[in-house]
Amino acid sequence: MQMLVTGGAGFIGCNFVRHVLAVDEDARVRVFDKLTYAGNLENLADVSDDPRFEFVEGDVCDLDAAHAAMAGIDTVVHMAAESHVDRSIISAEAAVRTNFVGTFTMLEAAREAGVKRFLHMSTDEVYGACLGEPFTENDPLNPRNPYSASKAGADRLAYSYFVTYDLPVVIARAANNYGPYQYPEKLIPFFVYRALNDEHLPVYGDGMQVRDWLQVRDDCRALLLLLEQGVPGEVYNIHGGNERPNLETIRLILDELGKPESLIKHVEDRPGHDVRYSMDAAKIMALGWQPEVSWEQGIRETVRWFAEHREWMERSVARGREYFEQWYAGR
Ligand code: NAD
Ligand code: DAU
Repeated sequence: MQMLVTGGAGFIGCNFVRHVLAVDEDARVRVFDKLTYAGNLENLADVSDDPRFEFVEGDVCDLDAAHAAMAGIDTVVHMAAESHVDRSIISAEAAVRTNFVGTFTMLEAAREAGVKRFLHMSTDEVYGACLGEPFTENDPLNPRNPYSASKAGADRLAYSYFVTYDLPVVIARAANNYGPYQYPEKLIPFFVYRALNDEHLPVYGDGMQVRDWLQVRDDCRALLLLLEQGVPGEVYNIHGGNERPNLETIRLILDELGKPESLIKHVEDRPGHDVRYSMDAAKIMALGWQPEVSWEQGIRETVRWFAEHREWMERSVARGREYFEQWYAGR
């Protein structure tokens, strides 16, 4: 496989690159990444000397750069995105540009290059809040915040390139990933960071919103399987099988760090906050995949990883200082 991974310097991307290089000795991986506040070459330091790895800095919205990055590539894994809901609420512009226009650009470049596989990374958020049975791949999309709407647009644009141009697109809709190298604006690393500094943990609303936690290694295994066995034009849900209200996750973080629950502070809710994400993942399980990491063990390991990488967290938080000051003012 001659693979191009967009967004490969971000959280899931760097874990995926590491996974592919570990399990497939014939793989060649080129990361194409703009290195925004969320992307960091430090995340790829341990593979940077691998002769099978290459890094190209560039913007997925730049068609010339996308064409150049596609040279010699047969497989695209498109992960680059503005991935944070709260940032997209402050301003939708970057999410619309990168997530929608950037996906258009990568699809165009891939079509021109005639790639054999285009794996598009979508999200469970495209279904919107789940108030009943877990969503299957055939359920309608109902995104409710700018991030998820931009991802839903990208998801369907990718599908249209399969239908219209026969581009071999496979779409993965993943649940909330957690694990090493997640940028500390997301719930788990952000709350580890705050708790380690004895700062209050700003829980939106009542904290009873449910997320289905998927350890990033399990997600990476699923994505690689879809590159091998996913049927072009098809969508695959990837879940963790670990639906938990936020407060339960937060209490586990505090317990692992030996910090008191008095750090929890209920604050103004996120506008349009989806109360629950829930998917049925029978379709990918029929290909032989299932999540392997148990929730409590996975969360505890992850909390320890962040606690052991405090300098990485400090540098990461420093790159986003303006955002943290704006969003959490009064929270
Ligand atoms: P992340 O924010 O950690 O990383 C995003 C990466 O994309 C960064 O390296 C960043 O530099 C890069 N990037 C951003 N804009 C770019 C641009 N214009 N051009 C090139 N590169 C750019 O995100 P993540 O959490 O690793 O998510 C990866 C993908 O998975 C995204 O598409 C996201 O929507 C999707 N997803 C994430 C989760 C999750 O829980 N994290 C769950 C489901 C789906
Ligand atoms: O579900 C998949 C999605 O998961 C991905 O598509 C997104 O890229 C990823 O960011 C994530 O979105 P969420 O909005 O679910 O993740 P986040 O970590 O921002 O929030 C998780 C839950 O925690 C959510 O219910 C909001 C809550 N929360 C989060 C933060 C940052 C708080 O209560 N306080 C906070 O400060």
